[in-house]
Amino acid sequence: MKYDVTVIGSGPGGYVAAIRCAQLGMQTAIIEKYDTLGGTCLNVGCIPSKALLDSSEHYHNAKNHFKTHGIDATNLKVNLKQMIKRKGEVVRQTVAGIDFLMKKNKIDVFHGLGSFINKNTISVNGGDKDQTIETEYVIIATGSKPANLPFINLDKKRVITSTEALNMSSVPKHLIVIGGGVIGVELGSVYARLGAKVSVVEFLDSLIPTMDRSMGRELQKVLKKNGFEYYLKHKVTAVETKGPDIKVTAENSKGEQVEISGDYCLVSIGRRPYTEGLKLENAGVRAGENGQIEVDDQLRTNVKNIFAIGDVVKGAMLAHKAEEEGVFVAEILAGQKPHINYLLIPGVVYTWPEVASVGYSEEQLKEKEIPYKSGSFPFKASGRARASMDTEGLIKVLAHKVTDEILGVHMIGPRAADMIAEAVVAMEYRASAEDISRMSHAHPTFTESFKEACLAATDNRALHI
Ligand code: FAD
Ligand code: NAI
Repeated sequence: MKYDVTVIGSGPGGYVAAIRCAQLGMQTAIIEKYDTLGGTCLNVGCIPSKALLDSSEHYHNAKNHFKTHGIDATNLKVNLKQMIKRKGEVVRQTVAGIDFLMKKNKIDVFHGLGSFINKNTISVNGGDKDQTIETEYVIIATGSKPANLPFINLDKKRVITSTEALNMSSVPKHLIVIGGGVIGVELGSVYARLGAKVSVVEFLDSLIPTMDRSMGRELQKVLKKNGFEYYLKHKVTAVETKGPDIKVTAENSKGEQVEISGDYCLVSIGRRPYTEGLKLENAGVRAGENGQIEVDDQLRTNVKNIFAIGDVVKGAMLAHKAEEEGVFVAEILAGQKPHINYLLIPGVVYTWPEVASVGYSEEQLKEKEIPYKSGSFPFKASGRARASMDTEGLIKVLAHKVTDEILGVHMIGPRAADMIAEAVVAMEYRASAEDISRMSHAHPTFTESFKEACLAATDNRALHI
């Protein structure tokens, strides 16, 4: 078989690259080692985690907020088995959608482990039968796997990764989370809402430390009310398992040892690029020590006809970043001149309230010595937020001190995940804070708070605070 392009890996990077290549008239193949398409995101990442976040949020609201709304919901019970089953059904439908898209775009799907024989020949092993593909171009989109610490035995029963945390058979009594990043706070939230005590052990001094620091501080306050406790600036030194009991030992910034006992331990300290089994050496493709494939600014590897995208290359490990890169490479192959503005790839944390960010954080602006001004608006001053009882959080707009151009937007609050899109559009068009302040925002909506934060940033003229 001979193809113009062969994509290895069917996550959001790979399957989107394949679709765009096919749209541009290229004969395209995609290889996936698992039975279902969609990669980490659809099978054990974005989609199932959001399904459980939504289910657990319904329970949390019914238990804690319905009474105030005037709804009597007594005898509430969690049926975790059903919650997990529904999540499975959402995943099943979503991955089936990718099968449909492959057929629609006439992309040939190969199931099995893809590995290089040479730079133009790929072997696919482990499916129905072993096959060999000849190809002009290759796009590597093999994604990532959970990282671990050398001294932690991930038994996947009590000491688990996000994958097992999406398939629990009972709600933990005390979940110890190592790493207070995105997975830690999202999956920690699921089980905290369902009744678990959640202890987060984080190496740095705040939750979600890569985002604007004000977001982590706010999130910490809210999650504390939901049953979270924190061990910040703590370095884990040991994890011991004795039957169903877990003991995590950590060292605080004073060098003192702290012991935390629980029944489950979720290790969420980041993910590492995944290239095992690819036999990169047969094609001469260079990867760094941690497996990250080296690419230039066109996402081309050191071998001219081989590209790499998504979690397996540098940059944020996000599904929409992988998708943008998939489209980018397809368009490069078609001779176009695409562009990705990495600064404007938004980051979202699906806790409740949600956290969303785009552009520079305040810390980055300080470090880069870019003069800026800041305006913020709290949701407690929003009529829409009061109506829905979602008054926690705020929107912060950072604008250039002289030009008023919006440089960063950081929000924690209701539906921030969707609202950040307005900030992305504004920043792509290089809007000033005043530009947004002069645009009508429907009333009552959460988006009015963005306009108010822009008014506050323009020259401190928010109308409702
Ligand atoms: P992947 O999705 O990892 O796909 C790679 C695919 O390649 C896999 O299917 C793998 O089986 C296959 N593969 C690997 N090697 C081979 C081989 N040799 N041959 C054949 N196939 C191979 N991101 C967001 O933007 N939003 C979210 O809400 C979000 N939530 C997440 C929640 C969790 C719990 C996790 C773990 C991740 C989440 N992410 C989220 C991150 C997101 O899943 C990844 O950034 C995204 O999946 C990366 O896409 P990718 O195409 O690079 O790789
Ligand atoms: P992460 O990088 O978000 O967080 C890891 C955290 O662990 C960091 O805060 C780090 O300081 C801490 N840490 C590292 N080593 C430690 C140690 N030894 N002891 C204590 N703390 C330690 O990684 P996470 O949460 O595992 O997620 C992996 C990737 O998946 C992320 O890159 C993220 O982008 C992606 N993801 C995205 C989601 C979203 O977009 N909503 C949801 C879930 C995951």
